Amino acid sequence: MSRVHIYGAALLLTVLLAATSQAAVVRTFPPFERLLENPNARVAITPRADEDNYRLPNDTIPSHYAIELTTNVHNNGETKFTGIVTITLDVVTETNKIVIHARQLENFTASITRSTGGDSITVKPTYDNTDGREFLVLSFEDETFTLPADSTWLLTINYEGNLRTDNGGFYLSSYTDETGATKYLATTQFESTDARHAFPCYDEPSKRANFTITIKHDPTYNAISNMPIDEEKTTSGVTVFQTTVNMPSYLVAFIVSEFVYTEGELNGLPQRVFSRKGTEHEQEFALTNGMLVEKRLSDYFGVPFALPKLDQAGIPDFAAGAMENWGLATYREEYLLYNTENSTINTQTNIATVEAHEDAHMWFGDLVAIEWWSYLWLKEGFATLFENLAVDLAYPEWDIFQTFHAGSYQSALIYDASPNARPMTYFVQKPAEIALLYDSVSYAKAGSVLDMWRHALTNTVFQRGLHNYLTFNQYKAANESHLFDAIALAAREENHAVPALIVDMLASWTNQGGVPLLTVERNYNDGTFTIKQEAYTNDKDYESSKLWYIPFNFAIQSNPDFRNTEATHYLVKEAEISVNETGLTAADWLILNKQSTGYYRINYDSENWRLITEGLINRPHKISPRNRAQLISDLYRFATSGRVPHATLLNLLTYLPNEDQYAPWSAANTVITLFNRYLSGDSEYKNFQFFVRELVNQQFDKFGVNDLKGEQHLVKYTRNVLISIACLGGLESCLTDTTAKLQALVDDGTAIEPNLQSQVYCNGLKKASDDVFDFVYNKLMDSNDQAERRLLISALGCAGDANQLKKFVSSSIDESNGLRTQERYTLLSPTYSRGEVGLLTSIEFLLENWEKYGSLNAGFGGVNPLHSDIVSMSAYVVNDNQKEKLQELVDTVKGSEYVSDTLQASVDANVNANTEWLTENREPLMTWVSSYRAGSAALSTSIFALVLCLFTAKLL
Ligand SMILES: *[C@@H]1O[C@H](CO)[C@@H](O)[C@H](O)[C@H]1NC(C)=O
Ligand SMILES: *[C@@H]1O[C@H](CO)[C@@H](O)[C@H](O)[C@H]1NC(C)=O
Ligand SMILES: *[C@@H]1O[C@H](CO)[C@@H](O)[C@H](O)[C@H]1NC(C)=O
Ligand SMILES: *[C@@H]1O[C@H](CO)[C@@H](O)[C@H](O)[C@H]1NC(C)=O
Ligand SMILES: [Zn+2]
Repeated sequence: MSRVHIYGAALLLTVLLAATSQAAVVRTFPPFERLLENPNARVAITPRADEDNYRLPNDTIPSHYAIELTTNVHNNGETKFTGIVTITLDVVTETNKIVIHARQLENFTASITRSTGGDSITVKPTYDNTDGREFLVLSFEDETFTLPADSTWLLTINYEGNLRTDNGGFYLSSYTDETGATKYLATTQFESTDARHAFPCYDEPSKRANFTITIKHDPTYNAISNMPIDEEKTTSGVTVFQTTVNMPSYLVAFIVSEFVYTEGELNGLPQRVFSRKGTEHEQEFALTNGMLVEKRLSDYFGVPFALPKLDQAGIPDFAAGAMENWGLATYREEYLLYNTENSTINTQTNIATVEAHEDAHMWFGDLVAIEWWSYLWLKEGFATLFENLAVDLAYPEWDIFQTFHAGSYQSALIYDASPNARPMTYFVQKPAEIALLYDSVSYAKAGSVLDMWRHALTNTVFQRGLHNYLTFNQYKAANESHLFDAIALAAREENHAVPALIVDMLASWTNQGGVPLLTVERNYNDGTFTIKQEAYTNDKDYESSKLWYIPFNFAIQSNPDFRNTEATHYLVKEAEISVNETGLTAADWLILNKQSTGYYRINYDSENWRLITEGLINRPHKISPRNRAQLISDLYRFATSGRVPHATLLNLLTYLPNEDQYAPWSAANTVITLFNRYLSGDSEYKNFQFFVRELVNQQFDKFGVNDLKGEQHLVKYTRNVLISIACLGGLESCLTDTTAKLQALVDDGTAIEPNLQSQVYCNGLKKASDDVFDFVYNKLMDSNDQAERRLLISALGCAGDANQLKKFVSSSIDESNGLRTQERYTLLSPTYSRGEVGLLTSIEFLLENWEKYGSLNAGFGGVNPLHSDIVSMSAYVVNDNQKEKLQELVDTVKGSEYVSDTLQASVDANVNANTEWLTENREPLMTWVSSYRAGSAALSTSIFALVLCLFTAKLL
């Protein structure tokens, strides 16, 4: 499953670890972690192995389900449905009852017959929901009756249910068609534990079975599912699908709708893209991308796609980003529909990567299931890696790994810097615990760790390992050992030497949480260096005994070759090693971790930092862009955690006037935005802005504010970052140019290039009149394009006027407007994260309307948005007035059903961290930027004097 998109990347990074997190990045990333808005809640859940068992007994196992569902959703969105499921089950050990799952289903009647024939026996269904187990227990009238071992039975259950309206299970969605009429559809979202809402079943991922699905619906509607239609058995209003291969229950899907589609075929595999009528012309990119990506993946794995067809469908209401139902993946519309004229490259990149993510699951998760949810990373980590790798293979010119580095990789490093960081493999049982695993560890970290090993062991070994894993375990369920064994075998097959058992090396990354810090000390006399490893946290005095098997390599100034990323050295679960044959001279810089593919941070001695800075200022392009980005990102962490002086970071940033690549500018943007968050109310803020303008000026002029045809994606992304930084720094031309573009749109409809809209709207709204604000606000309310709506929501939060912002945030609870449920929670975050006015307006809004806000349909399960928004807000509190106001809000909502007991503690933690941040960092930062400003004033005077001097000299 792709993660929930909360609000662009700004939220992605700010929610992660409150005060210590990053801020706005201009590219918005596809869906991320469901519950990341409240990292503190996660810590509260520590399942124990001795907890009562939530797992199904293993005495019976299913092999086939025949499911027949009847829905009248065409009838004005009628929610009632009825179902009959016949489960073929094998008895492993003799038993007097069968236990399966059900959720929110009613009116069961059941019977069982021997598969070999004989009388039907009435079965007594009882629902046992003790502690939320959701067990449907099927027992017999005759209490002495048992099902003997090694027998096979057909269990038939009739039941009734209602389509849900919270985007989970078998649910109702709707949209407005071209004539303005409301249209309804019924669709599914089962991961992790919602298949049991559509039909009683063994709802665990390892309990695979074949499914034969029949859907009765109005003849004017069509039904699609995992498999093609069984033409012989299908009649008008009764759609029967071919039987699936064996698969986990959560991957079953069906959609009953009036959707239309576009189709294509590559290598004998037919593919279709479905969405509501009126969007047909936006299906083509997803179709061609889907074909391209599927081909790249099946070639890479050396394992063909397993089903006879592959469909992708865009659903108007969708909780996650997308879902990998086998043969029928489902998406939010914004991750599927691409308008060739009006969509942004951000939308295009999202569609390409989200579709690649779901396609990769067709192998990782679908063909090879996970044995249990504790191994969620075993499918999500691969999907995260291949959402990039498949796109890189399909569109090498996109250089997608720079955006991976700026996105998933950075968010993983930040989130993982906590002493409480959970390991990738993490024991869970209950549905509520399973839901908490959809976090940056399962996605971003696992993807980054897998990519590290792909580079360290070489792509050849890794690819062969995956082929082994997929072929040995197909149609079965696997755990991490199956993967490690398959990679270990590949290393032997390829004669690839490694310093320890691959199984141990990989397990050191999956069975302990956290990220390593490598500390490098050079000996400038003999050219050697030592490396120490420890766990990295933002507290420099934190000590832990964690050790990893760490692959690494390095480049040096006199041989700056960053191409080969294979590991040349390892820290073999040892605290310290020294490296002797280095070729280093005292004048060379040394940089570990070529292309920054290893998952760790690296600190150097001060002389090496000086050499690196000098190298960057003189010849930045000698160092790989991802390394340049990581140097900035690491130094920010080291400076703000007291490991290096602030001057080390600030001096290094002065190379930026010569930087023209995306990943480093994205890292710089994060640093600048974070500093800005703390300092924007400072008396010496002007000096900070001056510094920012000095860094960005030159490249801003070079990139300009016009989107040009034929440019590479990264050029366009970089331009957006530069505009964001330049306007933040108060660069006059930036503010004038963006305002003029927005005004021209309002005045005479001069279109803004799609790729520049987010920056133009945001910066243009900062000092906009009500007319301009209303223009953009109405544009949001009128738009039927979900990607555009997201962009406008994010931009409206930039408004600088309290009344305008009040109107904006109040629309979240106004159910008479056209906002979708999934959008209603996304208005506050862009508002409170953009500055004091937005923060105070958001607090006031919630003070008055918290009950209404808290009771908005909480379709995503888990933490209520009221709770998570308050916690996220607290990460922006930097002065006493803000602190008091927020506390008033916390006192008001405390004890209500919408917030948990941890609210006060989470808020305090964030607010205190900010206070501490200011105590530690404000002084050194401000002192440095003030003297920088004074110094450059002095410098320009002296240059002026010099020029004058030369000039006069010449005259004479
Ligand atoms: C059923 O088997 C699985 C896999 O071996 C195991 O993890 C699970 O705990 C078993 N269920 C019960 C109730 O013991
Ligand atoms: C179950 O049966 C009762 C009584 O006939 C009925 O009122 C109820 O609506 C049924 N439940 C569902 C989900 O249809
Ligand atoms: C069930 O699926 C397996 C492959 O997963 C296949 O071998 C078997 O024939 C299928 N059974 C039916 C009844 O289609
Ligand atoms: C792009 O948007 C404009 C303005 O809304 C519209 O007139 C035009 O038809 C759209 N282009 C496409 C290809 O849909
Ligand atoms: Zn996924």
